[in-house]
Amino acid sequence: MPIIPVAERTWAAVTPASTYLFGVETDTGTAPDTDAGDVRLVQWYWGPRLPEAALAEAALPPTPRQRSGFHDPRDIHELLPVDGGRRWGVPSLQAFYEGGVRSVELSFAEAVAGTDEIELVLRDETYGLRVGVHVRCADGTDVVERWVTVANEGAAPVRFGRLDSGSWAVPERSAYRCTGVYGAWAYETQLQRAELPVGETTFTSRTGTTSHRANPWIMVDAGDATEESGEVWAVALAWSGSWRLTAQHRPEGDLAVTCGFGHDGPSVHLAPGERLRTPSALGLYGDGGYGAASRAWHAYTRGHVLPAPREERPVLYNSWEATGFDVSESGQLELAARAAEVGAELFVVDDGWFGTRDRDSRGLGDWWPNPGRFPDGLTRLFDGVRALGMAAGLWVEPEMVNPDSDLYRDRPDWVLHHPGRRRDTMRNQLVLNFARTDVREWAIGWLDALVGEYHLAYLKWDMNRSFSQAGWPEAGERADMLWSEHTDGVYAVMDELRRRRPGLRIESCSGGGGRVDLGVLRRTDQVWTSDNTDARDRQAIQHGFSYLYPAGTMSAWVTDSPNPHTRRRVPLRYRFHVAMAGVLGLGGNLTAWSAEEFDEAAGLVEAYKAIRPVVQHGRLHRLGGTPGLTASAVQYVLDDRVVVLAYNPFSPDRRAPRRLRLAGLDPEAVYEVVTSEAGATAPVGSRRHGRTLTALGLILPSFLPNGPDYRSELLELRRVRTP
Ligand code: GLA
Repeated sequence: MPIIPVAERTWAAVTPASTYLFGVETDTGTAPDTDAGDVRLVQWYWGPRLPEAALAEAALPPTPRQRSGFHDPRDIHELLPVDGGRRWGVPSLQAFYEGGVRSVELSFAEAVAGTDEIELVLRDETYGLRVGVHVRCADGTDVVERWVTVANEGAAPVRFGRLDSGSWAVPERSAYRCTGVYGAWAYETQLQRAELPVGETTFTSRTGTTSHRANPWIMVDAGDATEESGEVWAVALAWSGSWRLTAQHRPEGDLAVTCGFGHDGPSVHLAPGERLRTPSALGLYGDGGYGAASRAWHAYTRGHVLPAPREERPVLYNSWEATGFDVSESGQLELAARAAEVGAELFVVDDGWFGTRDRDSRGLGDWWPNPGRFPDGLTRLFDGVRALGMAAGLWVEPEMVNPDSDLYRDRPDWVLHHPGRRRDTMRNQLVLNFARTDVREWAIGWLDALVGEYHLAYLKWDMNRSFSQAGWPEAGERADMLWSEHTDGVYAVMDELRRRRPGLRIESCSGGGGRVDLGVLRRTDQVWTSDNTDARDRQAIQHGFSYLYPAGTMSAWVTDSPNPHTRRRVPLRYRFHVAMAGVLGLGGNLTAWSAEEFDEAAGLVEAYKAIRPVVQHGRLHRLGGTPGLTASAVQYVLDDRVVVLAYNPFSPDRRAPRRLRLAGLDPEAVYEVVTSEAGATAPVGSRRHGRTLTALGLILPSFLPNGPDYRSELLELRRVRTP
């Protein structure tokens, strides 16, 4: 029973490794001024799991620091600090009532408790606002889920400047360091780690999407965590629209992280009788360093987020890098024949198959096969694909329209726009307003028909521009709601499509990794990590990606050399070994590969299929180095199987470690090498104790100095004897 009552108005979310203690703060009588009736829901404790008998003693109000006539710091521990009363921090909830009244005043109404979920109900009686603060904790995970519901039971509309999913206090430490990712198109999920300055540090997206520029999660430690050890507090937001996450490092020394949907500017509108639920914010505490925190996120994503987590993702071939917009039946079938031969299991036709789409300036929105290119439709093409033993997939971009399209000529009012303002295009396209029910119905209609007619097993759902001039004239004072309701609409269409077509699998793409988050992963199966398919660049991207998201969601293609994005030449094996660390796919012009390359590729695809369950479902250990720059390795463990992929892009350092120390093994157990390219140092059939492998390590040829650039290797061990 993960949520347990501790004392009056005090509860604990008890997870395998942590305790999250919260409740209603009662007046201690220590306040110099009174705020009678003002309620504070507070987090008493968030850290290592406490014995049940100790829970009550931990639920004591901390002595407030530095109180004065100028400041009252108590809101740092609040689950939902409001803009109101004596609070000057970043509000998690800021409401504007009729007549310009602000300063929210909440009173506690009741707690509605279930076994793994509780709702703490608060009310602003004067204006009829009901606020539900929800805490949920599923069995077997260290992730605590929180969200907020608001219901307008008053007579006038309420507007919210900020309506976060909640605030999380990180316990007192003498310093705070933060880890997160930033990026850009073709440069996603770059890890950054820095001390949090005193002040407010905000990570945000204003694009209407999750965005490439930041990803909605943060990990905080006291400056002492490593990959293998140390306490880490993490917060992630499960949302695919604009978002905001602010870490407040107070001058008094405390730290709280508040996050939610939306960004500064647009407001949330709640008419009388309306109710709204925020997206979920997820908190995780662990004391095993970043590595264990990542593994806990991966387990949570597999156990509680992904719709079909147990399936193995197929090796797909995608035509984009080979053909661009130059799509034809014969050309695709030629690629399909090569793809099947090399071992692909799914053939995905990318952009260029529909409407008049022979370039990026026209056809988006006209979702029928290009009559010039496919006069008889796509049946022959996809029957051909299936005859080759592969499943069929198709690229779509449902939220977009080119002005040069039948759809736009017919429905110019369907795009985001403000009357009397320009409609700026990006990549020659405009954004369809998925907040509108008619747009959603149109999308579900053609998507369902397309999947049905061509028996599609897979859609790559793309989204290739940010919002601009984001107006919704018909919605009047609700217009700003498009910022969240667009995302709700995308979710609704995906959910309905999956409901109607249970066998369908979806890849989330937004110009590569612009829509990667725990919200979209609830209704998709994998994501297109980046349009940058250069293996070396990819290593850094995959490294940052792995902090939150499991390898089984990370699409990674092997494409041509030199790479079309970077012109870098990287050996085929290295390219494969990098892509094999996720969901392997192929994306190059296979018809131009030499016979040797082709044979080598076929062998590597086969090798991937053999290790696929371990990579896609196993526990990830990042084994050090700076991926893409210095020697590094990733390791996956599933039951008795251990897979290692090691890389050395180049080695100017003659003194770098030659041994790779493994992790996460049973020290007493014996492991046998079953696949090795390490030659004499780890021959197939050789055996080592877990402790030897983790404490001493293995000498890897690719880590030795004086070798060529781009050495990589695959090693597999199997636990053969347990103590
Ligand atoms: C985006 C995607 C690419 C490809 C193109 C097609 O950029 O990220 O993979 O699908 O669109 O236009």
